[in-house]
Amino acid sequence: MTLLILRRGGGRNWSEALARAAPDLAFRVWPDTGPVAAIDSALVWNPPPGELKRLPNLKVIISMGAGVDHLLGDPALPPEVPIVRLVDPTLAEPMAESALLAVLRFHRQAFEYARLQAERRWEALPMTRTRDLTVGVLGLGAIGGDVAAKFLHLGFPVRGWSRTRRSLSGIQCFAGSEELLPFLAGCRVLVCVLPLTAETRDLLNARTLGALPRGAYFVNIARGALVVEEDLLALLDSGHLAGAALDVFHAEPLPETSRFWSLPNVVVTPHIAAITDAEACVHQVVDAVRRVRSGSPLFNLVERARGY
Ligand code: NAP
Ligand code: GLV
Repeated sequence: MTLLILRRGGGRNWSEALARAAPDLAFRVWPDTGPVAAIDSALVWNPPPGELKRLPNLKVIISMGAGVDHLLGDPALPPEVPIVRLVDPTLAEPMAESALLAVLRFHRQAFEYARLQAERRWEALPMTRTRDLTVGVLGLGAIGGDVAAKFLHLGFPVRGWSRTRRSLSGIQCFAGSEELLPFLAGCRVLVCVLPLTAETRDLLNARTLGALPRGAYFVNIARGALVVEEDLLALLDSGHLAGAALDVFHAEPLPETSRFWSLPNVVVTPHIAAITDAEACVHQVVDAVRRVRSGSPLFNLVERARGY
C-alpha cells in the first residue's frame, strides 16, 4: 500500500517530512505514481482534474491545506472516497497574524503615516479608539474562531457570522443568510475566513459589501472567488470602502494587468496568509493513512454536500 503525494509543482517538503516522521510508510511523488493499484491514499493540493479518478483503490484523500475547494471542483473526483483536511494551529496562527497585521495597519493609520514620513512631516492624526472599531469575521471555524478571539483579546468589539449559530464568549454571533446584512451593517472592518463553496461563491458583491458602513476596510484571506472583484473595485473607487488587504484572487498568480496591484488603498499579498507547515502537519497525514488502513474513524472529515 502506497501514499501518493500529488501536488502540481512538486512535494519535496512533504516527502522529506514523511520520510522523517514515518520511515516505514511507502510513498510516491506524482507524476511518478508507480503501479496505480498500489495507491490507497493521496495527499493532494490542486490536482489536475481527473487525476484522482485514475487510482482504483483509493481509500482516503487528504488535502494539504485547510481548504478543499481545489478538490471539490473536480467533476471526476471519486464520489465515495472520504476527504480529510488539515486543522492545525500552524495554519490558524499565521492566518490570525495576517488579519491582525492588515487591520492594525488600517486602524493605526500606517498608510497615512508612511505618506507623512515620505514628506518629512511630523504630524499626529486623530485616532479611532480600539473599542470603537468593530471587527466582523466571516466564518467562525477552526481559523475564523481563532482570528475572532485574537481581535477580542486586543480590545476590539468583535462580531462573527457562520452557517450554523455559534456561541463564542464575548463575540456577537450571527448566523445564516437572513442575518448577513444586519451583521455587515455593524462592521467597520470585515475579515473573510469562509471556505469557498457553492453557497459562498460571489457572496461578497455590490449588495453585501455595499451593506458595510461607508469607510469600512475589507480583508480577504480566504478565497478570491468569494468576491465579485469588479464590485469590490467599484466600491474602492467610489470611496465606500476605505481600502482592502487581499491575499487571494480569482486568478492566481494575480495577472500583471490587474488594477488591484496599483490601487493606493489596496495591499496585495500572494496567497501567503498561511502556508502549510509540512513538518508540523505530517503527523495528521500519517494518522489518517494509518486509520484508514486499520478501519478506524477519520478526523477532520469534509462534508462533501456542504462543500467544507
Ligand atoms: P472551517 O473550520 O471549516 O470553518 C468554516 C467556517 O465558515 C464555519 O464557521 C462555517 O459555519 C462557515 N461557513 C461555511 N459556509 C458558510 C455559509 N454558507 N454561510 C455562513 N458561514 C459559512 O474552515 P477553516 O479551517 O476555518 O478555514 C477557512 C478557509 O480559510 C479555508 O476553507 C480556506 O479557503 C481558507 N484558508 C486560506 C489560507 C490562505 O493562505 N489564504 C490558508 C488557510 C485557509 P459553521 O460554523 O456553521 O460550520
Ligand atoms: C490554503 O489556502 C489552505 O486552504 O490551507
